[in-house]
Amino acid sequence: MRRLMSSAWLLGSVMAVMAALVVTLAHAGPQSLASTAQGWSNEEQAVLASLSLKRLPPVPVDPSNAVEGLPAAVDLGRRLFGDARFSANGAVSCASCHDPGKQFQDGLPVSQGVGTGSRRSMPIVGTGYSTWLFWDGRKDSLWAQALGPLEDAAEQGGNRTRHAHLLAQSYRQDYESLFGPMPKLDGLPQDAGPNGAAAEKTAWAVMTARQREDVSRVFANMGKAIAAYEKSLAIEPSRLDRYVDGVVAGRAADPGVLQPGEIRGLRLFIGKAQCVTCHNGPLLTDQQFHNTGVPPRDPARPDRGRADATARVRNDEFNCLGPFSDARPLQCQELRFMVDDDQALVGAFKTPGLRGVAQRAPHMHAGQLSTLEQVVRHYVAAPHAAVGHSELTHRHAGGGAAKHAERVPIELTDAEVADLVRFLGTLSEERATVSAAR
Ligand code: HEC
Ligand code: HEC
Repeated sequence: MRRLMSSAWLLGSVMAVMAALVVTLAHAGPQSLASTAQGWSNEEQAVLASLSLKRLPPVPVDPSNAVEGLPAAVDLGRRLFGDARFSANGAVSCASCHDPGKQFQDGLPVSQGVGTGSRRSMPIVGTGYSTWLFWDGRKDSLWAQALGPLEDAAEQGGNRTRHAHLLAQSYRQDYESLFGPMPKLDGLPQDAGPNGAAAEKTAWAVMTARQREDVSRVFANMGKAIAAYEKSLAIEPSRLDRYVDGVVAGRAADPGVLQPGEIRGLRLFIGKAQCVTCHNGPLLTDQQFHNTGVPPRDPARPDRGRADATARVRNDEFNCLGPFSDARPLQCQELRFMVDDDQALVGAFKTPGLRGVAQRAPHMHAGQLSTLEQVVRHYVAAPHAAVGHSELTHRHAGGGAAKHAERVPIELTDAEVADLVRFLGTLSEERATVSAAR
């Protein structure tokens, strides 16, 4: 995968590491260069500091969503998020698969909505930092993302006019205070949309272009309110933050914050296990796409991940450059300069953030691995990918250029695997891990 620092956010976090390094070095006398705080070198301390929640920049503004900062939008979005009437069977809402009590995911290998999906649900807190949404990044904003499940047959399975009618009936005042007058929907079909069943598509096709645009705008605005809510969700500190902040401040070890095995695991994570290569910054993700050779759920139809998503986001009527976006074209640099011609995108998935991961089994894009131990052993085994080329293997891709340079294999003893797993437990909110600490 190209190490293009395409997002300003990633660049920011890298610069933060550099800045920390410079500051640390500037204040260090020559003899203290090799000095250690709780056994960490200055370089390691800079990496540790880069993982702290304190280094998380403010959530970036999405210029394509003009209402995202408004409390009234957050409030409307929160209610839409939990409203199961926006589904074909009246039983599925966003919260069905993104349960606030389960880090906004569902704990299932693949999600169960009106139908059964083919991928694992994803947590929502922190997604405001993602340039690309979904495991394959086929949406370029939170509001455009929210529109997907509302029309997806396996998820909520609704259609555009039905959602607009319900919004007009149940949320008219809240809608109009944010977005202005609701267009006239009387006389429009109850069930019509461009992505539904044949009858819905036909009904959609016979509506006038103006009617279709009106309904699509109401639909887009619904997504914008939901996005405002999602972006308002705060990230809670973990035990790792408390430990790292203590090390950076030069305080003596706060006894019990991290156990020796967890500290050994942290050393591996930022060291020879090479995890920080991709899981970096305060959210423990580079927000990029990588093929790590995770076995497909259905070997007969391997998931091509990012490679099949770039055309979809480019052609999406709800993208940053589309008619329903509030951004000026120049504000859509990520989409305009999106990398889409790279073989490394085949079988590549978005690096998930690791905060809270120990309470979030099963793992990977289709829940293929049930435990964190299996995940760590996967990195050691580094199997060849079913499609594309795994970045963990050290064979060159067919015709691949030097960007798939030889990779140092990750070699870990059983004891080290156990320590890494222990470390992953420190990334959870404190109240979730108090009892788990060893
Ligand atoms: C049937 C279960 C289901 C429902 C209902 C559902 N989701 Fe999801 N959600 C998923 C799955 C599965 C994924 C990952 C799918 C993929 O990558 O193809 C996902 C991904 C996401 C992501 C991407 C997170 C990231 O890091 O990229 C967001 C945000 C999200 N959903 C929000 C919502 C919202 C908002 C709603 C309601 C409008 C909703 N979801 C309804 C299952 C569901
Ligand atoms: C080359 C980039 C890369 C490296 C190096 C890497 N990861 Fe990952 N990690 C990913 C990607 C991409 C996924 C999602 C893969 C998928 O679903 O196909 C992932 C998934 C995970 C998950 C599952 C997260 C969840 O939400 O369930 C864990 C845990 C994890 N990695 C831990 C580690 C550890 C520990 C290391 C070091 C041994 C490591 N990773 C090294 C890119 C990387």
